[in-house]
Amino acid sequence: AKDPVRVLVTGAAGQIGYALVPMIARGVMLGADQPVILHMLDIPPAAEALNGVKMELVDAAFPLLKGVVATTDVVEACTGVNIAVMVGGFPRKEGMERKDVMSKNVSIYKSQASALEKHAAANCKVLVVANPANTNALILKEFAPSIPERNITCLTRLDHNRALGQISEKLNVQVSDVKNVIIWGNHSSTQYPDVNHATVNTSSGEKSVKELVGDDAWLTGGFITTVQQRGAAIIKARKLSSALSAASSACDHIRDWVLGTSQGTWVSMGVYSDGSYNVPAGLIYSFPVTCQNGEWKIVQGLSIDEFSRKKLDVTAEELTEEKALAYSCLT
Ligand code: NAI
Repeated sequence: AKDPVRVLVTGAAGQIGYALVPMIARGVMLGADQPVILHMLDIPPAAEALNGVKMELVDAAFPLLKGVVATTDVVEACTGVNIAVMVGGFPRKEGMERKDVMSKNVSIYKSQASALEKHAAANCKVLVVANPANTNALILKEFAPSIPERNITCLTRLDHNRALGQISEKLNVQVSDVKNVIIWGNHSSTQYPDVNHATVNTSSGEKSVKELVGDDAWLTGGFITTVQQRGAAIIKARKLSSALSAASSACDHIRDWVLGTSQGTWVSMGVYSDGSYNVPAGLIYSFPVTCQNGEWKIVQGLSIDEFSRKKLDVTAEELTEEKALAYSCLT
């Protein structure tokens, strides 16, 4: 039998946490033959609720779950973890300035970075979910210099999956037959969902999404804004932000990273930019990636038309500004 993998979920008493931990315990993230030990961190006001989640994990009698650590102590939470899913953060409340929210999250991610750096297992893989996800991941990277930058990522897979879902609905095809959409940039409303290279598997072979849709006005208009604003639409409908889809997408992100993407398929991940596609190096930016042997690689050589170029640049500019704002909170 395989040795258990230790998976940290921060903000585990929150609503994404509540959807995510049972998925991990059922093998959705790492496979049905991979035992796991869950580490759950939250803050003291949520300690009682966190303990309730732990009770439910015991009650669910998950065969793959070999242990649960539920704590408000960041060192205990980070010790020995192989995978860290960072969902905890400070939410923007009505009337708060952007800088105040950034400042709270910068201090959270700075201290959690140090704890991970000192106490996590070697080669720990990190996925930041909490917003502003790209910039929180960047802060984490800056303050955990001994964790390789390729190990620090943020979640844009939910946006990627939303794009697949929209195409599948539009074309009335199975979502599993649609692939290779791309989310470029920030996990925010400036993200660019790009279908220029996306395809659909049909009974007469692989077809381009652009050809099948045949409605450029939708692809360059309604499709993009629907994906960009889907998070807000969910909040409006549920009075709560997306949790089951965020949790499911976080599992997809880690599973593909660890176990690999299938041949001919790429996914979107927020990763440390090396300057590919003229995206400024040193930002955490969402790119199309393939994964093999536990490593991601940015897909190279895709053609970028003028429309796309502008959109890649707009979201990069926003990330550059966010980075400057985050750094201004450090001083
Ligand atoms: P929530 O408010 O239900 O849960 C957040 C949890 O984090 C709370 O239990 C809170 O006590 C905890 N927390 C706060 N500070 C913490 C700290 N320093 N250490 C550990 N835990 C801490 O929020 P929800 O709905 O679960 O969302 C979590 C985050 O994920 C939010 O920032 C949200 O904006 C973001 N999000 C990101 C998505 C993405 O695609 N990247 C999609 C959906 C949400």
